[in-house]
Amino acid sequence: MKAIHYYLLTGLFTLSMISCNNSNAKNNENNNSKNKVNMKFEKVALPYATDALEPVISKQTVELHYGKHHQAYVDNLNKLVVGTKFENADLETVVKESDGAIFNNAGQILNHNIYFTSFKKDGGGEPTGMLAEAINEQFGSFDKFKEEFNAAGTSLFGSGWVWLAKDGSGKLSILKESNAGNPLTSGLTPVLGFDVWEHSYYLDYQNRRAEHLKEVWKIVDWDVVSARY
Ligand SMILES: [Fe+2]
Repeated sequence: MKAIHYYLLTGLFTLSMISCNNSNAKNNENNNSKNKVNMKFEKVALPYATDALEPVISKQTVELHYGKHHQAYVDNLNKLVVGTKFENADLETVVKESDGAIFNNAGQILNHNIYFTSFKKDGGGEPTGMLAEAINEQFGSFDKFKEEFNAAGTSLFGSGWVWLAKDGSGKLSILKESNAGNPLTSGLTPVLGFDVWEHSYYLDYQNRRAEHLKEVWKIVDWDVVSARY
């Protein structure tokens, strides 16, 4: 009898441990799932050191712009999408289909991901390949394109972005977008975007947005930008 009693107790103990382990596994799974949702949207990795864009954009501006402003959009969106239809959507879908606070933060994540990957240390020069041909054909020359682009960025009232975008046939256009606007919402593909929110230039250029825009061309990574065309 003692032996039977012992085996019964051992069996019950084993079952209880399995149940407990399963319960812990489920809790871990739930916690991981919550963490995954909270970490769903992330900012792009910075492909250069924070001081690599000096003197055009200072280390301090990159640290604040990328480290604080961009991070805040990511943190906000990860909180905002919980429990919405965008919880498992990709970033571009969120930008195309959302509005209000979700759109503002998603748009800014996408915009800044494009922006920060458009530069490199000792960049500048001119675009290459098909993008260069399209710019020359549509704007007359690279210099005329830059003039038009800078004029759009300088005249944009308030905060926003100036974009070079392409349509399905490869036709280029320069767009002025307020706040978090992106060419995607007009069915266009963004090729190059300059941030004209004051947080992108005020520490280095104060109110001289036009001067900042003239300088930014010196750090453009045309290999990356041309490949978007
Ligand atoms: Fe910005």
